[in-house]
Amino acid sequence: MSVYAVIMAGGKGERLWPASTPARPKPFLPLAEGKTLIQATYDRVVPLTGRARMYVIAERRLAEPIRVLLGLPPEQVLTEPQGRNTAPAIGLAALVLALQDPEAIMMVLPADHLIGDEEEFRNTLSLGVEAARAGYLVTLGIEPTYPATGYGYIQRGEPLPEFPQRAFRVRRFTEKPDGATAEGFLSEGGYYWNAGIFLWRAARILEEIDRFLPRLSAALQRLRPLWGSAAWEGTLREVWDQVEEISIDYGVMERAERVAVIPASFDWHDLGDWQGVWEVLPKDERGLAAQGEHLAEDTGRTLVWGLPGKPVATLGVSGLAIVDTPEALLVADLARTQEVRALARRARKTPPDWKELYQLDPSGMLEEVKKFPAQCREALALGKAAELPLDKLSGFSRVLCVGMGGSGITGDLLARLLPLEVIPCRGYRVPEFIGEETLLLAVSYSGNTEETLSAFRDGLSKTPRALAISSGGKLRELAEERGVPWIGIPGGHQPRAALGYLLFTLLSAFRRLGTFNADLEPVLEVLEALSRKLAPAAAGNRAQELARALHGRVPLICGVHGNTAPVAFRWKTQINENAKQPAFWAELPELCHNEIVGYELTERVLPTSQVVFLRTDSDHPRVAARIEILREVLARRGLAYLEVEAEGEDEFSQLFSLLYLGDWVSVYLALLNRVDPTPVRPIQELKDRLARYKGG
Ligand code: PA5
Repeated sequence: MSVYAVIMAGGKGERLWPASTPARPKPFLPLAEGKTLIQATYDRVVPLTGRARMYVIAERRLAEPIRVLLGLPPEQVLTEPQGRNTAPAIGLAALVLALQDPEAIMMVLPADHLIGDEEEFRNTLSLGVEAARAGYLVTLGIEPTYPATGYGYIQRGEPLPEFPQRAFRVRRFTEKPDGATAEGFLSEGGYYWNAGIFLWRAARILEEIDRFLPRLSAALQRLRPLWGSAAWEGTLREVWDQVEEISIDYGVMERAERVAVIPASFDWHDLGDWQGVWEVLPKDERGLAAQGEHLAEDTGRTLVWGLPGKPVATLGVSGLAIVDTPEALLVADLARTQEVRALARRARKTPPDWKELYQLDPSGMLEEVKKFPAQCREALALGKAAELPLDKLSGFSRVLCVGMGGSGITGDLLARLLPLEVIPCRGYRVPEFIGEETLLLAVSYSGNTEETLSAFRDGLSKTPRALAISSGGKLRELAEERGVPWIGIPGGHQPRAALGYLLFTLLSAFRRLGTFNADLEPVLEVLEALSRKLAPAAAGNRAQELARALHGRVPLICGVHGNTAPVAFRWKTQINENAKQPAFWAELPELCHNEIVGYELTERVLPTSQVVFLRTDSDHPRVAARIEILREVLARRGLAYLEVEAEGEDEFSQLFSLLYLGDWVSVYLALLNRVDPTPVRPIQELKDRLARYKGG
């Protein structure tokens, strides 16, 4: 009979808000001498089972961070679609273990407790394993040190004949008692706190579930033949909200036969609230416990949980819990921190009222984004019809694309899409090396951007092959004056909302010049589908969810060199211009050679960072491996990260699906930031001031 451990990572820890949040609940807090509680739980138990028999059960959204943190293979991190209290989680884990090993002994351990004497803890568990082998449902009972009203109590009965004086039958479970009852328990003796640590044969707990929890049992019966098959997940989702939402104590332990308690003598804390944390942290003689820098003047008995690099200063106060996080700052009476849960619930991000937020878009940027696929189609037709003197233009082996901002990105994307060298140029001059073999391409939506005009003039002195695209402006005049082919596109948009016109018109033109022959139909189909799926009418869509994940954070968007790097750059610039907030971008694998070192202090200097990896199927396998490792590096540093998968089959569809998603995200983020996505006043102001500036 092999012994397995199942760590239950379901505790929300709302009373440890704002450090504990739905995205980073209590088991992820570094409360075990700098280790996360879940890691400490794992390390404490793994000597008894070995790594291969360590399992975790958690809500699906937490599975990946847990897997990465503990380095477990995915099949050892069991997931529930949503938490339904302990009985369903235990039932599911028991089923999986029993299917693999009908004789499995199962230890159930909450992921969020702190245990002092680990050796003693393992000895107690080993005794529990013996009792479980003998057929008992075993629970560990913690010797109460005060008449707590926050725990359930277990009253012991007669000793088990097999383990005299070490294990007892359970006479009665009592739910959290009132103060007087708890005091009565302590003076009477023979009562223990129920710590939620259990041991049993997996098959036995399944029998009990069968007896007492018929809906859970029926769900498990449906799942039984599906383990390891593709149908498991779907069926689990289907059955999970039908099962009883109940604790294992209520659902089974209080009603079953042959239930035993093993009194435990190790040091145990459930760190239920900030006072509990204060109790276990080292304190100075004034009763000050601080995580992070604390400047204390005339301060008594206080807990400070600060942000790295941001000192907390206190003067003339006592009896406080001060918890500072990027999301919120809590200042509470230390003795009342069990009441924090109510605040945590009030602070929980309620879903935004999108309908109200749409009012913040009077110029219709959402509509612009929605029409992007239509704009791309229109642009292909424009490029087809444009007047292009092919004899004047053909014969180049390189393209130098001069352009800035919302227009300049066209050069980066052409570099990704055209099968020849394309050099984006963002400045007043073109490189010295260009000559006749280079096609000089000027891209300026307004046609009035001074760097673009200057570089274009400079380039015209070096190569006769040139082409310009704009909605009009000085670029058109210059092109006409110099006899350079010019393509006109419709005006009246923001440059960044005219990317379809700029890029697809040019792709169509390059097709005519014989330098581009990819089929763009699949790309357009993917974009059209996304236009429906991500539009405001599809409320709660993926772009809105991503915008919510980025809200209040500084996005660090990571693309891949030669593939999604320009898309990552576009996400950054769209977030800057639409959402009016900072965002940064980087590319793999380069970031593994510098930025990765910067992650060391990111939590301190940029605690609100949110790393976003853009993923496609066409990345080099070693890049995929790097992302796997980076994920782990980020998780260990406690940094927030998420991955965004491309849609579509071919590489260009995938690329554009990510680009388009980013456009939607940036506009939704603008609305969450309560700013109008359209105007970009600082750009205009700078251009106006520069126009009055003499010299240069
Ligand atoms: O988005 C913007 O408004 C800017 O980034 C512009 O694109 C940039 O200033 C260049 O102007 P234009 O695109 O008209 O050449």
